[in-house]
Amino acid sequence: MIAAEGIHAGIGSVGILHDVSLSVPSGKLVTVIGANGAGKTTLLRVISNVLSPTRGRILFDGVPNESIPAHLLARRGLIHVPQGRQIIPTLSVRDNLLIGAARVPDLSKDDMEAGLEREFARFPVLRERQYILGGNLSGGEQQMLAVSRALMMRPKVLMLDEPSLGLAPQVVASIFKALRRLADEGLAVLLVEQLALLALNVADQAYVLQRGRVALSGPAAEIRRDPAVVESYLG
Ligand SMILES: Nc1ncnc2c1ncn2[C@@H]1O[C@H](COP(=O)(O)OP(=O)(O)OP(=O)(O)O)[C@@H](O)[C@H]1O
Ligand SMILES: [Mg+2]
Repeated sequence: MIAAEGIHAGIGSVGILHDVSLSVPSGKLVTVIGANGAGKTTLLRVISNVLSPTRGRILFDGVPNESIPAHLLARRGLIHVPQGRQIIPTLSVRDNLLIGAARVPDLSKDDMEAGLEREFARFPVLRERQYILGGNLSGGEQQMLAVSRALMMRPKVLMLDEPSLGLAPQVVASIFKALRRLADEGLAVLLVEQLALLALNVADQAYVLQRGRVALSGPAAEIRRDPAVVESYLG
């Protein structure tokens, strides 16, 4: 569903990504792990067409995305949950979700209600908190809201930038479990993470990004056993 082919990218004359290739098929959970500054967020920005690569290309559903503006990519189902969960603090949980749905063309009122129900079933705490302002939720609840809001947009590809940041392990586990289920239901999920062990445990495929290069890639279960990965990321 997403294929990055030989991506080079940088800001000004500073190279950040070097010859990065990766693919995220439908029905798979793919993780990109790497340390601070490895280029993970930059890679997501290139895939979302917020930053143009200096070389290489991104295919979304077989179509080069360079000609499609970022907001139209979202409308076509490429959804990016940015680092730092950008929910709207002054709107209720419910309205945050409905705003997600409002970006989907031709969605009826019944579709929106069904979407709310689906997300409340996924994260029951959001049902309990539906009339509370987003800004008053805990960090974990805000991250669940960010994921649910993205899902209200009916993605084909869901990209998440370090959703575990600052959250308790049980909350991370429940969010990752939801991501696993979404992949099993057919979504293409790209999970960028520093919490390597948890990400590798839930993913199908993994890429290790080191100083802007893919140092290692393969089935997540194999990457998890790789001595260099164990030493640098899981030790
Ligand atoms: N706008 C920018 N101008 C200059 N350098 C940048 C810019 N954005 C990112 N960089 C540099 O590019 C490198 C990769 O940054 P990026 O944010 O992609 O890393 P990351 O893997 O997401 O890190 P983290 O885990 O800390 O979020 C870093 O060295 C960063 O300082
Ligand atoms: Mg980042």
